[in-house]
Amino acid sequence: MLAPKSVLITGCNRGIGLEFVKHFLQLAKPPKFVFACCRNSAAATDLNEIAKSNPSVKVLELDVTKQDSIEKAKLYVASIVEGEGLNLLINNSGIASDQDIEDVTREEMMRCYEVNAIGPLMMAQSFLPLLRLAASQHQSDPMSCNKAAIINISTSLASISEYSSPRRRYPYRASKAALNMITTSLCLDLKADGILCTSVHPGWVKTEMGGPNALISTEESLNGMMSVLEKLQGEECSGKFYHGVRGDFIGW
Ligand SMILES: NC(=O)c1ccc[n+]([C@@H]2O[C@H](COP(=O)([O-])OP(=O)(O)OC[C@H]3O[C@@H](n4cnc5c(N)ncnc54)[C@H](OP(=O)(O)O)[C@@H]3O)[C@@H](O)[C@H]2O)c1
Repeated sequence: MLAPKSVLITGCNRGIGLEFVKHFLQLAKPPKFVFACCRNSAAATDLNEIAKSNPSVKVLELDVTKQDSIEKAKLYVASIVEGEGLNLLINNSGIASDQDIEDVTREEMMRCYEVNAIGPLMMAQSFLPLLRLAASQHQSDPMSCNKAAIINISTSLASISEYSSPRRRYPYRASKAALNMITTSLCLDLKADGILCTSVHPGWVKTEMGGPNALISTEESLNGMMSVLEKLQGEECSGKFYHGVRGDFIGW
């Protein structure tokens, strides 16, 4: 059963992040704390509405490109979870870019790397002490999202071995491929701590990023991804690239 005591999700004011919050609240045993991050809490109307009727939802401001913002969030989370640590970190926030070979710019490449790859890595580094603390509470348990895990929301467009779609989208695809390498490195580095780390593709989802022609709703995407998260049990599930809707693997 998926039942982490605490979860932190980035990019929760809309899209897939907002739906993650809703789905965690619907679990049979919802988390004690859902740290729902967004860049501008005053403008996060839907999220604030949810938080109003769910005291477990803590809305906090976090920009993954700003180290001071990450550190501030970490201190806040540490003060709330105290000795229990953080069970689950979901690096969901991301930006897309359509630039192809004719128009790609250095600035756009850097912007996508900052948000899609460096941000999640620095999140993992900053929250590592809290993840380690959570893992240490369940030392003899197999790896899982209930124990301690980092989930990086990637995209099938980042797969090199299963390259699809004629649009090259250099900044988006390359930065998410970098994120996948970060997943693999974290998996190996954090194995001894009992912390699982894996990449998940949410499907092509109707959000601001996915657009109106996307194949599935945020709810359908989350129904799939939550059952994938539930099935992540044991070391062999770490360091993988899951298709969040089909539940099988995507080749790196
Ligand atoms: N939708 C799809 O079809 C699809 C497919 C494959 C993968 N994905 C991945 O799924 C994740 C969620 O996408 P989505 O479809 O929900 O996109 P979305 O609707 O565009 O939402 C993106 C979220 O990321 C946040 N964000 C952007 N820059 C940030 C930063 N510097 N720091 C913190 N948060 C930041 C946004 O906040 P603001 O509102 O403040 O900008 C927003 O909450 C992304 O990683 C995306 O790459 C989506």
